[in-house]
Amino acid sequence: MKQEQDWYKKAVVYQIYPKSFCDSNGDGVGDIRGIISKLDYLSDLGVNTVWLSPCYPSPNHDNGYDISDYRGIGKEYGTLNDFREMLDQMHRRGIRLLMDLVVNHTSDEHPWFVESRKSRDNPYRDFYIWKDGKDGGAPNDWNATFGGPAWEYDESTKQYYLHLFTVQQPDLNWDNPEARREIVDMINYWLDMGVDGFRCDVINSISKDFTAPYGGGIGPHLHEYLHELNRKAFAPHGAMTVGETWGLTPETALDFTGADRQELTMTFQFDHVCCGWDGSKFKKGKFDAKMFVGLLAHWQAGLNGRGWNTLVNENHDLPRSVSQFGDETVYVRESAKMLATLLYGMQGTPYIYQGQELGLINPHFGDISEYDDIETINAYHELAKKYEIPKVLKMLNDGSRDNSRVPMPWDGSKNAGFTAGKPWIKSGDYPAFMTAERERSDENSVFQYYKKLIALKKTDECLIYGDFRLLKNEHNVCVYERSYNGKKRIVICLFGTNAQSIANIYGIRPGGVVLSNYPDAAIGERIALRPYEAMIVKASDAGGAVE
Ligand code: GLC
Ligand code: CA
Repeated sequence: MKQEQDWYKKAVVYQIYPKSFCDSNGDGVGDIRGIISKLDYLSDLGVNTVWLSPCYPSPNHDNGYDISDYRGIGKEYGTLNDFREMLDQMHRRGIRLLMDLVVNHTSDEHPWFVESRKSRDNPYRDFYIWKDGKDGGAPNDWNATFGGPAWEYDESTKQYYLHLFTVQQPDLNWDNPEARREIVDMINYWLDMGVDGFRCDVINSISKDFTAPYGGGIGPHLHEYLHELNRKAFAPHGAMTVGETWGLTPETALDFTGADRQELTMTFQFDHVCCGWDGSKFKKGKFDAKMFVGLLAHWQAGLNGRGWNTLVNENHDLPRSVSQFGDETVYVRESAKMLATLLYGMQGTPYIYQGQELGLINPHFGDISEYDDIETINAYHELAKKYEIPKVLKMLNDGSRDNSRVPMPWDGSKNAGFTAGKPWIKSGDYPAFMTAERERSDENSVFQYYKKLIALKKTDECLIYGDFRLLKNEHNVCVYERSYNGKKRIVICLFGTNAQSIANIYGIRPGGVVLSNYPDAAIGERIALRPYEAMIVKASDAGGAVE
């Protein structure tokens, strides 16, 4: 699509997890024609960018994040022609497409790896990371993200290969220039087809630091390799890129995204979503609103004027945000809207994960047989060694990636309108009002609120470009300000169900409400806040003009 400079600053990105979005042919798996059938829904919501999780050919050990052909479309998703049609239909609606770029590893069924493991002198041997064992064991003590050692011994050539994720996901060797050349070619193949950019899977792991205690750190050549991708592929196409980069600080994020770096457009930041994890996503402590807001504000302040934030509460690896940080029972809608307001009021590009715009909650699976995700199943077996099964199941209910991977609820029909067949994973048992159909026709729904918020986020210069300043973060109330060219917006959010009133020291007048999750925000000398109340209001310094 024709590029406006810095279009990413007005992007609102919708993540589609294709397997669970919409099934067009009744085989129980979502597909590209299903996505095409829902593009008007996305237009109605108002998003202008889609990030599509992998839909390449894959043996699906990690739901498509184990790719066996970088240039194709998985049979279950459709054909390359379907893909081209989807891209064209998106562009006609003014929606850009980001593909998922998974190049830290391939599937072990990728032809490169099939060749690589054949012999030590195979031309593709060095596309992967093979090492001799040490002291009768693996080359080092690194563990894989989903459990077990990160090295797999290969009997036929008597060496170990590295896999930071599952055994079926061998890590590519980025130090090999031939491998990098192939990757650049592949990226250009999609960009030449018209794709608008990429979400770059675990991209901070591509260069390995073998002196580090764990394989996920920032390796010695990481920035050099990203710069190479930028110069040879991203920049010539004006592509937008977002890095999945766990463990960054605002300072290290700037090494990826600073204007002088020519690497990525933006990186995800997840500090706040891990808030309350006691070392693992399956061990949740008590939610601490002050810490949650503080972590977000730390990034806002850290990148203000120097970099660009991403605003993310959910994705396909995380449980639903209302279940984690809001109220799943009584104040579902209020808390879903409050969490959205808190995030969208900040500076950065928002990412919505499918169903978040309906305020979906975790599905609360009752038995391990209902789960599909490899991380969850591995964790179950590990946790079951230490805890009683009911406790383990509760831990999975809180932390499993399948919480967000269940079918999208479109309507009240069988399987929530996701498929006419048997869904690949059980549908969530959501309250009846949580369907796209119901929420689209209900003016008080979470969907309608997102719609308003998204419209604002694309047009309100203050909310797009404004400087960020945290004004208050205590007793579950947070207040922050965005200011731009003499205009000001104040965002006020209350966490929790205890009503509170705060002094109106911000120059807010009753008429200044831009958006609120209660119909009648109570603004006077004090501002009375009800459970999970949130508002975006216009304000001015000491009685000056309010714009
Ligand atoms: C990323 C993906 C996750 C996947 C992993 C390995 O973290 O988001 O779903 O399992 O990378 O590719
Ligand atoms: Ca299908």
